Amino acid sequence: MPSRTTNLSNNDFTLIAHRGASYDAPENTFESFDLALELGFDNFETDVQLTSDGTAVLVHDDTLDRTTDATGLVAETSIAKIKSLNAGLWFEGPADGAGAHGPLAYPEAFVPTLDEFLERYTGRVHVHLELKSTQPDLAATSKKSLEQWGWLDQHTGDSIAPGLTISSFRFEQLERSIALMPNIAHGWLLQKIDKASLKAAVELGLSGIYPNAGKVTQKQITDANEAGLVVRTWGIGDSEAVLRRAYRSGVAGTTVDWPAIARDVIASI
Ligand code: G3P
Ligand code: CA
Repeated sequence: MPSRTTNLSNNDFTLIAHRGASYDAPENTFESFDLALELGFDNFETDVQLTSDGTAVLVHDDTLDRTTDATGLVAETSIAKIKSLNAGLWFEGPADGAGAHGPLAYPEAFVPTLDEFLERYTGRVHVHLELKSTQPDLAATSKKSLEQWGWLDQHTGDSIAPGLTISSFRFEQLERSIALMPNIAHGWLLQKIDKASLKAAVELGLSGIYPNAGKVTQKQITDANEAGLVVRTWGIGDSEAVLRRAYRSGVAGTTVDWPAIARDVIASI
């Protein structure tokens, strides 16, 4: 097999820091994204949803329970309340991680707004922005921020930094988003590629289709590529075997919580 580089920008197999370097630092915080950059990764994945008063914030779960010191639904909490929360106290970095570790490893971490995130990383990274919730205004609100910080003018080639790709498991969010931002690359997150999903993706004008890494097959990848779709995976979890499988399958890249370890794993293939 020819060797493939895996670090920055437009290589054959792109490692996307999932919620930042989220094995090493608290997910979806500046600490996690900054660490990903320090480790040499310029492709970030993150999750966006709206607060009760319509501010786009970067939180993965529906609730604040797991990743902050508060409870309740993000969609039912104001931005003022969310900005008062700590988003790092829950996280004890692993002893073998690239970041800090221990009970107070990240005492200052907070939940970033999409605006704060875009301002901080503009011109530096390719962001794979996942429209996480079903909220009808999510795509339009995100577009305003992306426009304000100049992200809609950036190169939209797949995984080239700086740049932007919008993704979602929610097909209706992709429909809304692509109608508002037709020049931006969009990809559909799903469990498994099949004929119906390929047809729907092509008809909507998506540029990518993103199956679960544990379920993708070479036949599905070939079919998707022949339909003009980029395939990248998600769902590596903590499995080096699944990472190797994704790499060998020929997909364009994957999200992974531990990109620095993944780089070493791939280098040893
Ligand atoms: O790369 C997409 C991946 O982030 C989807 O899963 O649940 O981690 O948002 P999830
Ligand atoms: Ca995600």
